[in-house]
Amino acid sequence: MKLRLVTLAGDGIGPEVTRQAMRVLHAVAAVTGLKVDIAEHPIGAAGLKAAGVPLPEPTLAACLAADAVYLGAVGDPAYDAQPPHLRPEAGLLALRTALGGFANLRPAVAFEPLLDVTPLRPERVRGADILVVRELLGGLYFAEPRGYSPARDVAFNTLQYSVAEVERVARVAFESARSRRRLVTSVDKANVLETSRLWRETVIRVGADYPDVTLKHMYVDACAMRLAIAPTEFDVILTDNLFGDILSDEAAVVSGSLGLLPSATLGGKVALYEPVHGSAPDIAGKDIANPIGAIGCVALLLRHTAHMPREADAVDAAVREVLAHGLRTADVARPGEHAATTTEVGAAIERAVVDALERHWSYHGV
Ligand code: IPM
Ligand code: MG
Repeated sequence: MKLRLVTLAGDGIGPEVTRQAMRVLHAVAAVTGLKVDIAEHPIGAAGLKAAGVPLPEPTLAACLAADAVYLGAVGDPAYDAQPPHLRPEAGLLALRTALGGFANLRPAVAFEPLLDVTPLRPERVRGADILVVRELLGGLYFAEPRGYSPARDVAFNTLQYSVAEVERVARVAFESARSRRRLVTSVDKANVLETSRLWRETVIRVGADYPDVTLKHMYVDACAMRLAIAPTEFDVILTDNLFGDILSDEAAVVSGSLGLLPSATLGGKVALYEPVHGSAPDIAGKDIANPIGAIGCVALLLRHTAHMPREADAVDAAVREVLAHGLRTADVARPGEHAATTTEVGAAIERAVVDALERHWSYHGV
């Protein structure tokens, strides 16, 4: 198979973590014979600098013609005062809409070797394995009307969901639960919001098609607390766009760092892979950012687009192996411990993946 991939390294730490993710992908390709054709394009502040807009036309056209898109990060405080359509984030939101992926999968696992660095108590976090399924194309982020009043004394956004929007993302959550622990926790604010009532009624109806999956409901405020107190209670968390944005950052605390989380956006014309972290301008260009979220995106890409589950598992296993050996970037290093660079961690994961795959391939004589 030939994989046509567009990479959008973007802003801040985006380019440096993307470099490590692509070295791992190239290594997998070299061992397995997977052909990868990569085209790089600007987005976000990089798009604004190159073409005056956060999502330049050639970038969008290339993404729509690809098998998958990988995005590093967008965001640059230099554009904070710009109107919304000229901010870097507008490029990402427009890209998500154009690609059409509505289900954003954000796995967050407790890495055993990192239990000593999570701010949560290790005995509470051990074994946590959560998949946040975030609705990505609707809700407060996109619904109209929205605006800032001309007098600038009022601003407003609209929270709206249709049954169809909830149904399609709910199906992804139930399907995902079938290959996991068969529990979906649907998170809403149905005690206050009409949209949440529609959300809950729809999820219950879809859930009836999945009698083998247990469905629970939780208010978002309670969920925010339970995630910190008892993260092992969760399997799949199904929630809307804004709640999913917030809860997935919180789920990162269970893993140990926001830098560890990858995501896959499925259901549209072209799949989109992006780490959950932002552009982290304060540490950009220093080779200290954690590349594991970005490398985790390669595992998700191999699993969901290239349909190479064994190679995806090998990437995930290599990440665990390197963490277990104590090679850690500053965000997950123990206090006083020497921190590894972005490049060192990427190189070590690449080596571990190649070793594992070569062992497997020579074993099978392929
Ligand atoms: C995320 C990010 C984005 C979002 C920003 C950069 C627009 O926070 O992917 O979680 O809010 O969706
Ligand atoms: Mg976010």
